Amino acid sequence: MKIISGTSNEPLSRAIADVLDIPLTSVDIERFRDQEIFVRINENVRGEDIFVIQPTSAPANDHLLELLILIDALMRASASRITAVIPYFGYARQDRKVGGRTPITAKLVANLIAKAGADRVLTMDLHAGQIQGFFDIPTDNLFGQPVFETDIRDRFSKKDRDKLLFVSPDTGGVVRTRSLAKQFNADIAIVDKRRPKAGEAEVMNIIGDVAGRSCILLDDIIDSGGTLCNAAAALKDHGANSVSAYITHGVLSDPAVERISKSVLTEVVICDTIGQPEKVQKCDKIREVSVATLLGEAIRRIANDESVSKLFG
Ligand code: R5P
Repeated sequence: MKIISGTSNEPLSRAIADVLDIPLTSVDIERFRDQEIFVRINENVRGEDIFVIQPTSAPANDHLLELLILIDALMRASASRITAVIPYFGYARQDRKVGGRTPITAKLVANLIAKAGADRVLTMDLHAGQIQGFFDIPTDNLFGQPVFETDIRDRFSKKDRDKLLFVSPDTGGVVRTRSLAKQFNADIAIVDKRRPKAGEAEVMNIIGDVAGRSCILLDDIIDSGGTLCNAAAALKDHGANSVSAYITHGVLSDPAVERISKSVLTEVVICDTIGQPEKVQKCDKIREVSVATLLGEAIRRIANDESVSKLFG
């Protein structure tokens, strides 16, 4: 087995390599003067089981193309099997036609990855579970839930856990929210969110009694922070004691960090699926938890042809 890292999130790749106790395979990733990408794998990979780690986060187009080019190089170097490890699968939010003459980018990107030569995909908290079916190659979709569950048990004492209320910031996240709430025997609430236009989130109603509760908002993505910060404010307005959030993918486009800093949120916990700039690392209200052990264990199991479903939480 060999592990190769793209440039998107090298700290996560190194952490996964540490979990597996193997070094990252040496690779050069460079730019021509016109910004085209060049890669060279510096070790023999003929007949090897290869895992390429590259979240396709911003700049999504560059990171995606880098992944495709790495896969192409590995395929042409006769790797026996190539697994694209995509901790954050970008372009996933366009997973259906939202109107006439619009694309389904999640399907397009899935096609590109398979066409480049990937034999399988390992990813986490896909924006919609059915995106797995967009890939015509085996695809394992892990969940951040086990990592969040451990963290919540560490952060909240047994007594405080009685006050927990898990909240979905929109109707799309109810299944995820119910699943984590079940682990704590806790109730759920739902925020009825509308998007008057793309990038703007508006809270219409809150379904459930949030007064006096320690609310935990759950989501797969925080992008501009509008959904989360508006939901948190509405929960506080309805009498919640405190509001914190657990989000798998910290996309955190501007002005998310500023919004979080000024918000009523106590804390936003994100996974390290996406490499974060200093601004995020320095924000007092944002904390990262690592999925390196989870991804490392999944890679080990795939390499050994063992079941991965045990890791689904
Ligand atoms: C939407 O369906 C997603 O689960 C997130 O709620 C959304 O992408 C968050 O976007 P933003 O932070 O820009 O409101």
